[in-house]
Amino acid sequence: MGKRADQNGPAPARRPDCYLNVVRGLEEIAVSELSQLDAEVLPTRPSKVFFSCPGDPRRLLDLRSAMHIYAFVVEHTGCPHDSSAQAWLERIARQLDLGPALALHAAVHGTVGTPSFRITGARSGRHEYTSPEIAAWVGTGVQAQTSWPVDLEHYDYDIEVELVDDRALFGLRLGARWRERHAKPVYHPASLNPTVAYAMIALIGRDADDTFLDPACGGGTLLTERAALGRARLILGGDIWPTALQYASATLTAAKAPAALVHWDAGHLPLLADSVDRIASNLPFGHRVGSGPVARSFYRRLLPEICRVLRPGGAAALLTSRRRWLRQTVSDNPGLRPDRCLRLILGGKEAFIFLLSRAG
Ligand SMILES: C[S@@+](CC[C@H](N)C(=O)[O-])C[C@H]1O[C@@H](n2cnc3c(N)ncnc32)[C@H](O)[C@@H]1O
Repeated sequence: MGKRADQNGPAPARRPDCYLNVVRGLEEIAVSELSQLDAEVLPTRPSKVFFSCPGDPRRLLDLRSAMHIYAFVVEHTGCPHDSSAQAWLERIARQLDLGPALALHAAVHGTVGTPSFRITGARSGRHEYTSPEIAAWVGTGVQAQTSWPVDLEHYDYDIEVELVDDRALFGLRLGARWRERHAKPVYHPASLNPTVAYAMIALIGRDADDTFLDPACGGGTLLTERAALGRARLILGGDIWPTALQYASATLTAAKAPAALVHWDAGHLPLLADSVDRIASNLPFGHRVGSGPVARSFYRRLLPEICRVLRPGGAAALLTSRRRWLRQTVSDNPGLRPDRCLRLILGGKEAFIFLLSRAG
């Protein structure tokens, strides 16, 4: 099987009710969150999880690992790579059975009188046409079938068509609340996607008795996410950049998240040894914040501090794009055990979550 076919992944064995998009590399986190809803999960593909879920579908909007959640409409293979795709897509769009997806949408958002719609097109692979063309062709077919007016801004229904090579997946967007979590009063330039923050916290676990630390908290996404997930003894963040702390403070206040913020250099944490249960941090990569050499020397100063303040058995999740540097620095600190490294694709680039635990 070619590389692209691998990325495409298997077709769902049965018709799922829904699917969701997740940051690539974090599919297992979405599967585990769905299992808490008793969802029946079908085999996943990169960045996609297909499932059927009993109970009230409004619960789906609260999934913290999902970027977008869709009601499944249909999937077809055989889409031409050349301009004959226009007729192929229009024909399929004219015949779409939207009924089950619309019923799910109504159960989540209520019924709509005379709906308006838009089509979102996405594609990967070699095609002699663009995503906006896919959207326009499918829109023509859907309009021929339904007579709904198109409204690109104030639409009731957003139908997404995603083409991967010759496979076309049609879904009706149900929404997801992650964007609300991302909408901060002020933006840190390297603000973390909250679905990744959720995943990092899910990977290290949590307890109501925890002292949770983000030593380089930036705009405070991890602190806010941790507070939203349940009680802790203390949620503590710090940053060397005072402006970042102002951003974090505004975000935490808006989210009514109880966390303490301290201005510090995380290479000298003003904390006692063995005083922290769990650590999660989005480290500077030296791209948008700081430079490469500064980031590297920061890792060399930070890791011994993490090793010192983390209690034996405590866990840490560190996000970086600098896999080699972090791996090297971890191996220089034998008190920290490297448990796992997950590879993600964030904003089209590789990033890694290192899971560490403090040796007993
Ligand atoms: C990638 S950003 C974190 C972004 C944050 N997770 C968010 O979502 O907004 C890295 C942060 O590390 C901070 N930083 C860099 N060097 C530091 C140091 N020596 N001590 C503490 N914080 C530091 C930067 O100021 C920056 O805010």
